[in-house]
Formats: sequence, structure tokens, C-alpha cells
Amino acid sequence: MNRFDNKVVVIAGGGSGMGRVSCQKFAAEGAAVGVVDINEAGAAETVRLIAEAGGKAKAYKVDITKEDEMKKLFSDVVADFGRIDVYFTIAGISPVGTATTTEFEDFKKVVELDMYSVFLGCKYSIPYMEQQGGGVIIVLSGTYGIRPTPNKIGYSAAKAGAISLTRSVAIDFARSNIRCNTICPGFVNTPLNNGFEGEARQRFLNTYQPAPFEIQSEDIANTALFLASDDSRAITGQTIVVDGGTEAALYLNYKRPSAK
Ligand SMILES: NC(=O)c1ccc[n+]([C@@H]2O[C@H](COP(=O)([O-])OP(=O)(O)OC[C@H]3O[C@@H](n4cnc5c(N)ncnc54)[C@H](O)[C@@H]3O)[C@@H](O)[C@H]2O)c1
Repeated sequence: MNRFDNKVVVIAGGGSGMGRVSCQKFAAEGAAVGVVDINEAGAAETVRLIAEAGGKAKAYKVDITKEDEMKKLFSDVVADFGRIDVYFTIAGISPVGTATTTEFEDFKKVVELDMYSVFLGCKYSIPYMEQQGGGVIIVLSGTYGIRPTPNKIGYSAAKAGAISLTRSVAIDFARSNIRCNTICPGFVNTPLNNGFEGEARQRFLNTYQPAPFEIQSEDIANTALFLASDDSRAITGQTIVVDGGTEAALYLNYKRPSAK
């Protein structure tokens, strides 16, 4: 008996990075997985990898910022698989900029994808979860939503909004047996960070992250599997930080003069 036998899990952003690995891990533990992505080829590749490993998955080409597409997505999943037990929303972008260097259109774009899409996912998945007696929503936000880093005004604001949405959904739907939590990763080794490699990446990790290893998509996926399982049935409305201790420290490399 696997943890997610007979469960239907829908993952937005399943065509790459943490989304792809999460799809693979849920499928490996028995779930039927809806792989949602705007990138059709990426989603198809995830489905291929799952099928190759003996799992069950179907690709859905969806722009998660579009209300009509999100409404249709969940009705399609229920038509295909009969229910929705878990919705994990991961897809996002991570642009740079300050209040003066960010164009308003670009600010709106990141808020649309990293925050409004979370609202849409909740709005259109929850009615099915209520009908079937419960479900789980997991929102991928980020540590910059807790405390911004310089030059990331739109991203940080959007992730902060996603964290707040998580809490609202958790308290509004707890009595419907629906839980909602957010995962805040630190720096994760995914294609999103492909341009930031080698010595510069190592220097960044040495300076800011206490744990002496690179966080991988598997670390985030394992957290999502726990949050989706009954082992976490009393956890809702929470912000789970998976960052190797980065957010816990202020001035990580500061040593008192007497320290060795
Ligand atoms: N990688 C990190 O270090 C890190 C750290 C903290 C938070 N995050 C957040 O994690 C999330 C995913 O990151 P990743 O590193 O796995 O990224 P990734 O770029 O590897 O994957 C993102 C996926 O989202 C899809 N996508 C983009 N726009 C979409 C849309 N409108 N509709 C549907 N799908 C869309 C892309 O096609 C892609 O497959 C993002 O929200 C990112 O901000 C990443």
C-alpha cells in the first residue's frame, strides 16, 4: 500500500524543476497526477518519465493566470480522474527590480503569476474538494515573501501575498476538512537558477546558507508529500521554510572578535 494510492494530485508547473520532481514522487507513491504547465513539451516529458517508471499521469496545457483556463482545468481533471485530493501550485517567475527600475506592466506580471494564480487555483479546486469531503492545497512561495531581498520588489510582494492567501484559505475551509500550507524554499538547484552557477553560486551559498549542501527539488517534493499526507493532518495555515537555515540567521558570517 502506497501513501497516495487512489489519490488524484494536480501540480501546476509540473513541466520543470520542483514541479516535475514533485509529480514524479507523488506518482511513485501511487497517485494519479495531473501535470499542469504552460509549456506543453515540458509537461509531456514529465508524463513520459512517469509512465516509463510505471506511474499514471496526464498533461494539461494551461496558463494558470487565466481564469477560464483554470476553471476548465479542474473540471477536466474531475472528468478524467473523478476527484482532486491535492492541488500543489508551484509555477512562478522570479524577476529582479526595485520600485524605480520595475515597469508597472512587469510588476503586474509577477503578481499575476506568483499570487493571482494561487487565488484562481483555490477558487476553482476547493468546490470539488468540499463536495468530496476534503482535500489539501500546497502553495509554493519563497523566503523572500517572509523578508525581501534587495532588487526583488515584485517577486517578494507576490510571494508575501501567496503566504497570506494560504492562511486565509486554511482558516476559511478548515471545517470543510481542507488544509492549506505554504512551502518557502531557499535557494534550490533547478533550471530557474541555471544562469547562476559555479563559483558565484558557491560563494552565495557559503555566505548565506548554513547547511553545507545544495538544496535539491527532491527536498521540496518530500516536504510536499508530507504536507499532502495524513501524517500532517493537524498542520494548516503554516509557512514551512525549507532553506537549510538561511532565514533563521542574521549576519551568518559575523563572528565576535573572541570567536575562533
Ligand atoms: N529555484 C529556486 O531557488 C526557488 C526558490 C524559492 C522559490 N522558488 C519558486 O518556485 C517556483 C518554481 O520554481 P522552479 O525553480 O521549479 O522553476 P522552473 O522555472 O524550473 O519551473 C517553473 C515552471 O512553471 C511553468 N510556468 C511558468 N508560467 C506558467 C503559467 N503562466 N502557467 C503554467 N505554468 C507556468 C514553466 O513553464 C515551468 O515549467 C517558482 O514559483 C519560484 O519562484 C524557486
